Amino acid sequence: MTSPYRPSASTKLSLIQRPRRNRRTDWSRRLVQETALTVNDLIWPIFIIDGEKKREPVASMPGVERLSIDEAVRAAVKASKLGIPAMALFPNTDPALRDEAGSQAFNPENLVCKALRAIKKEAPEIGLITDVALDPYTSHGQDGLMRGDEIVNDESVAALVKQSLNQARAGCDVIAPSDMMDGRVGAIREALDAENFESVQIMAYAAKYASAFYGPFREAVGSGGLLRGDKRTYQMDPHNSDEAMREVALDLEQGADMVMVKPGLPYLDIVRRVKEEFGAPTFAYQVSGEYAMIAAAAGNGWIDRDKAMIESLVCFKRAGADGVLTYFAVDVAEKLARGI
Ligand code: PBG
Repeated sequence: MTSPYRPSASTKLSLIQRPRRNRRTDWSRRLVQETALTVNDLIWPIFIIDGEKKREPVASMPGVERLSIDEAVRAAVKASKLGIPAMALFPNTDPALRDEAGSQAFNPENLVCKALRAIKKEAPEIGLITDVALDPYTSHGQDGLMRGDEIVNDESVAALVKQSLNQARAGCDVIAPSDMMDGRVGAIREALDAENFESVQIMAYAAKYASAFYGPFREAVGSGGLLRGDKRTYQMDPHNSDEAMREVALDLEQGADMVMVKPGLPYLDIVRRVKEEFGAPTFAYQVSGEYAMIAAAAGNGWIDRDKAMIESLVCFKRAGADGVLTYFAVDVAEKLARGI
């Protein structure tokens, strides 16, 4: 078959359609741009440690540090000034405080609760999202409770409800259940409303896959070495897409205000489907392993860090995400403020 765009040597190339015309100049490229990345699309996840004036590098995430609460407050003020709408807080709990039941999750003086109160005082304009799952607190590193080898569902949900209330009382704006237990969104909504926290939002990790890309995060929160078994009985199988639609439908029915797909870049087909099928506020998590790949390749001089960072985030927007949780949030916001 001969293509109309492949003239034989004797014919003169004559094209009416020349897509390159629109790409010739910067102004024209900007004019025909279909999506835009702005600071309003960014959620910044940070890691919190005990102590004061402490910043600890996370080895597998070059450029990311665990912060003591005073440093986290400073970081929040900076993020807020840059216009970043929200942050997500993750604790690295002292191993001596981790137990089978994840009891630190219910302690009003745990790292996350203390950080919530401290940040709210100094940077009240920034939204604070807290993760609901037991893994930073359990001695086995699982997100739920274990009975023998099994991660039990309903008892875990009861614990997650307690954890959510603890975080709501400490002042979080958004509860983000990342545990993937069945029925947790509805149970958390009901418990929040019963305590007059009806304005606390829920961002459900609705389609969260059992992924190898979470490795560096587990190092950052110190749960990696502890993890007994894997998370495949509750996190989703990467082969599945229809199942993600059912998960999202359930979380929305149960009262989720926003839904999330995780990981991000390898799952953009899911982001697109979720946005098209439900039209709900849809977020994606550019997870630790995705960050690590870009940071490591850039560290070796193999790719341009800033360009890869911006391109990856633009791709989330193109796929239909309303926003992205990204460890690059501050770098991106600074770049956007300078006009890229
Ligand atoms: C824990 C949780 C994980 C992440 C967010 N919350 C890890 C896991 O499920 O094992 C991963 C985030 C990242 O990799 O950046 N429930």
